[in-house]
Amino acid sequence: MAETIIIDHQLSGREKYQALLPQLKALVQGETDLVANLGNILSALHYAFGFHWTGCYLVRDNELVLGPFQGPVACTRIGLGKGVCGTAWKENQLLNVPEVDEFPGHIACSALSRSELVLPVHGSDGAVVAVIDIDSEIPARFSADDEAMMLEVIRLIEALPGW
Ligand code: SME
Repeated sequence: MAETIIIDHQLSGREKYQALLPQLKALVQGETDLVANLGNILSALHYAFGFHWTGCYLVRDNELVLGPFQGPVACTRIGLGKGVCGTAWKENQLLNVPEVDEFPGHIACSALSRSELVLPVHGSDGAVVAVIDIDSEIPARFSADDEAMMLEVIRLIEALPGW
């Protein structure tokens, strides 16, 4: 695996993802441990973009349980349909929330979080096995480019061994 991520901070958002994706693939190559790979992918994203919180919740016994993440401490368990993460899980869809205070039932793990992008991760049978949650201190931080490029990252995450 490659242990260094190099990102030019002058790049546009889309270009940063394009520079990051092959590095993420190299980062996980040859490693079979899911937690190790999730930890590294989420860390690389967090530091490349300077997000407030970048992490995942794993589906465990009909609940979401906090998985590898970067950022402030967060709530450990989220029920089906609760908050942005539980809603993305229940509805099996990407949620791009420009202003978290306007999302009914938003779970405020950090008062600094203003906008949020949550994407479901699917197992080989199509069921949701996790959600990736990215939070920003900037309102409406996430664009259509972030959505499209994060879906590429999700494809890489879905292909990891160990789900
Ligand atoms: N805000 C999220 C909870 C998770 S934290 O932001 C890390 C939600 O409403 O799902």
